[in-house]
Amino acid sequence: MSVNARPSIIQSVIPIADLRQAGSLPIPAHVPSTDATALRDQRGRQLRDLRISVTDRCNFRCTYCMPKEVFDNNYQYLPHAEVLSFEEITRVARIAVGQGVRKIRLTGGEPLMRRGIEELVAMLAAIPDIDLTLTTNGSALKAKAATLKAAGLNRLTVSLDSLDDKTFRAMNDVDFPVAKVLEAIDAANAAGFEQIKINMVVKRGVNDHQVVQMAKFFKPAHGMPGNIVRYIEFMDVGSTNGWKMDDVIPSQEVVNRIHAVLPCQPANPNHLGEVAKRWRYLDGAGEFGVISSVTEAFCGTCTRARLSTDGSLYTCLFAQRGYDLKTLLRSGADDVAIANAIVGIWQSRQDNYSEVRTAETARERKVEMSFIGG
Ligand code: GTP
Ligand code: 5AD
Ligand code: SF4
Ligand code: SF4
Repeated sequence: MSVNARPSIIQSVIPIADLRQAGSLPIPAHVPSTDATALRDQRGRQLRDLRISVTDRCNFRCTYCMPKEVFDNNYQYLPHAEVLSFEEITRVARIAVGQGVRKIRLTGGEPLMRRGIEELVAMLAAIPDIDLTLTTNGSALKAKAATLKAAGLNRLTVSLDSLDDKTFRAMNDVDFPVAKVLEAIDAANAAGFEQIKINMVVKRGVNDHQVVQMAKFFKPAHGMPGNIVRYIEFMDVGSTNGWKMDDVIPSQEVVNRIHAVLPCQPANPNHLGEVAKRWRYLDGAGEFGVISSVTEAFCGTCTRARLSTDGSLYTCLFAQRGYDLKTLLRSGADDVAIANAIVGIWQSRQDNYSEVRTAETARERKVEMSFIGG
């Protein structure tokens, strides 16, 4: 299929796929404990990661995430008053760290579109013992890479779906040139971000011809350290991206294609619950990862909570509703009350969407990824 022909998207858009006003879930009571390591959900999973969406806006219109047909000039983004302030975000983050969170990821939308993002990075970086990272589309990264590094950002992930300019422009759907993202990655490497993760969502017939190219391009060579490509199975997130199984390239197929050209073998995970399965090149130079949410669900070790732009906590990427922390934050609740809310929410969590996904669930209305954070 040509990248411009998108019948599947247009035919399957749900009139206004907007669950933001669906109402929040009541915050469950918590079972008291003084030990954050004892905090487990209903499936025995700990709370380790907090993914924070700092804006619901993005300057790209990736066809699988914010299709133009829905996110057009009439789309109502959150009004300023509904968006959590940096102080509010930092407060939730600090309290969540007290409950076991060790990794914080800033996402969006496009997080670098939030004015003053470097200040937020500095505020979060002051929280001890956390891995602070950010996922960006790279469009504004060149100018900001050094400042983000200086502000205390530990790691960086850049979304990049193709090295081929025509394909890239069609996938971001705003005609953004790939050369600018590549320059930004160079600038980020020069600013001291090593082993940048390069996220590629693979869609059959759209960009899958780029799989091996991407592996070759980002592999360390000629004494240069290289970056780590992660191939992501196209998922049925949100309600607007026209997902169907035929469009998914299973990770096994990605690995086979790479292995045929660049022999590789599985590598051990860096930590329990790592989203990507790692593969190491047999020549000893570099690695890549595959993220197989569709063909090999990883809910069993999912330690992630998501804080939406408007301050709701979601316990699954595919959730339909979240828990409203903003009202608590803005009603004078003290830190203990907010911690208790987080504990109660986590203790009652049962989510395992990717394990139970079917063609029917894929059609359910879910909150958009740009709103709760990728
Ligand atoms: P690193 O520590 O840098 O490896 O972070 P990560 O493995 O969490 O990677 P990242 O945040 O870049 O996530 C990569 C992609 O994996 C996301 O853009 C999503 O497409 C997918 N993903 C991440 N978390 C989840 C999750 O909880 N559920 C599902 N189904 N997909 C996820
Ligand atoms: N399927 C898989 N990954 C997606 N992302 C956005 N939408 C989807 C989807 N439908 C990923 C992007 C980016 C991150 C923000 O989320 O690749 O890396
Ligand atoms: Fe923007 Fe990232 Fe979504 Fe693309 S995937 S539209 S860059 S938030
Ligand atoms: Fe976690 Fe939900 Fe993703 Fe499963 S589908 S890994 S529970 S966020």
